[in-house]
This record gives sequence, C-alpha cells and structure tokens, in this order.
Amino acid sequence: MRDTATFDVTGTLLEWYDRHARDLPWRVSPADWAAGEMPNPYRVWLSEVMLQQTTVAAVREYFLRFTSRWPDIQALAAAPDDQVMAEWAGLGYYARARNLLKCARTVVDQHGGRFPDTLDALLKLPGIGPYTAAAIAAIAFDRPETVLDGNVERVMARLYDIHEPLPKSKPLLKKKAAALTPAKRPGDYAQAVMDLGATICTPKSPTCGICPLREPCRARAAQTQQYLPRKTPKAPKPTRIGHVYIAHCDDGAILLERRPGSGLLGGMLGFPGSEWTENAAEAPPFHAEWTLLPGEVRHTFTHFHLTLRIWTAKLSNDAQPDNLILIEKHDFRPSDLPTVMRKAHDLWRGSRTTVKHDGTGLT
Ligand code: ADE
Repeated sequence: MRDTATFDVTGTLLEWYDRHARDLPWRVSPADWAAGEMPNPYRVWLSEVMLQQTTVAAVREYFLRFTSRWPDIQALAAAPDDQVMAEWAGLGYYARARNLLKCARTVVDQHGGRFPDTLDALLKLPGIGPYTAAAIAAIAFDRPETVLDGNVERVMARLYDIHEPLPKSKPLLKKKAAALTPAKRPGDYAQAVMDLGATICTPKSPTCGICPLREPCRARAAQTQQYLPRKTPKAPKPTRIGHVYIAHCDDGAILLERRPGSGLLGGMLGFPGSEWTENAAEAPPFHAEWTLLPGEVRHTFTHFHLTLRIWTAKLSNDAQPDNLILIEKHDFRPSDLPTVMRKAHDLWRGSRTTVKHDGTGLT
C-alpha cells in the first residue's frame, strides 16, 4: 500500500477521468475541454440543480427535454411558470423548480443574462446553496472550489478511513476534499471524484479491484470500505394519511387544482383533497356521489410516508367550484402531475381498466 501522503491522488484521478469520464449531456468531455471547448454555465447550472437529490439516470431525459425546449437562460426566464412546473413533474422537490425560475429571471434581470463566476456571487442567487455554487464555480468557471456531495463524502471517508458518522464528519470530509482540489482543472477534478463515487466507489459493493485509488485507500487496507461512510441513524418517518378526489366527466375531462405556490408540491397541478395528517378526515371538495376506490396510494416524502385514499365521482355541470380547473381530455397529460398525484391517477385508471376487462363494476 502507498499512503495518501505520498500518492498523487489528484493526478491519478484526473488521468482516470481522462479515460473514463461518463458521457453526460451537460458535460464537456476532457478531450473537448483540452481542445478549448468551454462549458456552458446555463447547462452546468441546470444539471446541478436537477442532480440535487436525484440520480444521473433520472435527470438525463429531463435535462434533454428542458434544454431542447428552453436552450438558454433567456428562454427559460421567459417561460410561463405552469409550463416549467409541468416539465419538472416527476423529478420531485418542487421548490427546486420554483427557485430555478426565480434564479433564471434574476440572472436575466440583474446580471445581463450571464451567470456570475464567483462562489460568493453564485451563493446569492435563488436556489443555489454551497454545493451548487461550488459545482458551478468549479465546472463552469474552472475555479478551485471544493464540491462535496454524497459521492465525494463516500470517497473521502473511505480513502482516509474516517469512522466519525455523517453529518458530524462533514467538515473533516470537506477539509480532505479541499486538500486534494487542484488549481489546474478543478472542474474536471470535481467531476472525476463524483464519477468515481457513482461508478466504482459505490455505496454497497465498491469494485475496489479496478479503482485507480486502490493503492492509497486506507479503508481498503483495513477492509472497512463497506461500512463507510457511517451515518447517524435518522428518526423514523411518521405515516400520514390523506384523501384525494378525482372528478371526471363522461367525455374524459377531469377536475384539477393548482396547489398554492409554496410548501410541499407548491405550484404543481393535483387533485383536490384533504390535509395530510396522522388522521385526516374525508374532505370532498363539493357534494357528489363519491366512491372510494379499492386499494390506496403510498408515497414517501423527505419527512413522512403518505397513504392516500382515492375517491371518484362523475361530475355534474353545477357541481364545479371556482377554484378547480376543468381540463379537457386532450389537454390532460398525466406526466404533468407530481408523482404522488400520478400514482392516484394510475390507481383510478387501473381500476377503470378492470371494469372494462372483466365487468366486475369496481367503480
Ligand atoms: N453528480 C452531480 N453533479 C455531477 C457532475 N457534474 N458529474 C457527475 N456526477 C454528478
């Protein structure tokens, strides 16, 4: 084993990245970068906001759709809120989409449409925290900022065999990551550590045999890699329940509401319903013959599990309250709904399919 003190970790990682960088739609490859291609700050920013709490595999399609519809920051800043929220549907953490729009409009209105290129100025923009600011500064502007995400934390904890649990160990992990950040190619270096964490130094079964850092890795020497990083156990999530109401017309039109601009699923379309609490009472939005569907929807948010009961009713002309929006069948795309509401829709559609197939009359 060669120790981290004498092994050129940074240089080795950059060489590995030159050969194994993932081909990602927002990324300038090391070869193109060396040939003078500059990263596009808009694409770097958009990808990093999407990648917060979401995997590369899930983000790829969203990124391609967003950038073909809104190819630059001016286009995004001018987009109607509801179209952006609909395009974000399914990615989760909808405050990110609301902040995305705020940030785009701030960059256009206050910075002439150009992203600022320093960590401090980036941190002042809506929705840009320490991780995203460092990632944009490093990747888009080649500034030697240290990027610390879950992948980097895991690589550092293993490389230095750090047993202190997260989140307490964050400052130490950041210090280790900072000491490795080079003045030259800091953006490629940041992406190299993230790629290593995503493809080799993975959480469950790291493939240490092909790791470019296998020699200096202290966890590998101590055979502790699968236990690291340690994490302080989180409090178990409570379960809440709720009721949602799907009202529909014979011609396929459906009643939706736009949720208030802030809070959980803020600004998204959904079905009207009750509060979500430990013991939520039924709360039909208007009088109708509501029928409870068999089965229920389960969905997990950051802080709680949710069980939803789904009620349906045929809509009569006079029943529709003002705050709800009647969407015609040809204008309704289930993919515009946040995932929990799409699950409710799918349960309803599934039950209707059953009626069609076997005639057992579930509705
Ligand atoms: N995860 C988050 N941002 C990333 C990036 N720029 N490269 C690789 N993985 C990432």
